[in-house]
Amino acid sequence: MNYLLFFLLISLVNCKGCKDQCECPDLLDRLDWPERGNVSYAEGAGCFRNITCGTSYYYTLVTFNFTESEIYRNDYFNSPAIALSINYEVQTGPNINIFQFFGMICENNEWYITKYPYGINYFTTMAEELEIGANGEFDGKKSKILRFKCELPSK
Ligand SMILES: *[C@@H]1O[C@H](CO)[C@@H](O)[C@H](O)[C@H]1NC(C)=O
Ligand SMILES: *[C@@H]1O[C@H](CO)[C@@H](O)[C@H](O)[C@H]1NC(C)=O
Ligand SMILES: *[C@@H]1O[C@H](CO)[C@@H](O)[C@H](O)[C@H]1NC(C)=O
Repeated sequence: MNYLLFFLLISLVNCKGCKDQCECPDLLDRLDWPERGNVSYAEGAGCFRNITCGTSYYYTLVTFNFTESEIYRNDYFNSPAIALSINYEVQTGPNINIFQFFGMICENNEWYITKYPYGINYFTTMAEELEIGANGEFDGKKSKILRFKCELPSK
């Protein structure tokens, strides 16, 4: 074992600054609604974030495209698929850290979600509205974030 190389590698991995940098673009640029200022946002080490929509937003959601997702569907109409933060019968309420809730991660300069706590809503080519994966079966699959929204309950 080459110890010099070993210690060099260790110091590279631990180097100060490297760990705190996030290669991904500003996640708030993907926020559709409301204003950035209405959303509570904090940056932690690396690409860790806290994003909370605020007390009056229930229907928070993330949109993505099945062409940029590990979830395979062959019947979708060309409109964004929607990862939901609620179940229509049981509302989870506001003040969730959506970063954690949807398992947002940064990889190769792109933001992805990896959790679908209440499944996905999308339109099929037959103009049928479907809800799938509400049992969490898609958790762990990556989907590139198109936009996210903090929507009002009235929506
Ligand atoms: C959003 O922020 C604006 C100003 O930053 C404020 O006037 C407005 O009341 C806020 N809306 C909500 C729903 O919090
Ligand atoms: C994010 O939220 C967690 C839990 O509330 C808190 O412990 C942590 O300090 C927050 N991080 C930042 C960077 O605000
Ligand atoms: C999804 O990606 C495909 C292929 O890049 C593109 O043609 C389509 O317009 C995208 N759909 C949406 C809703 O962004």
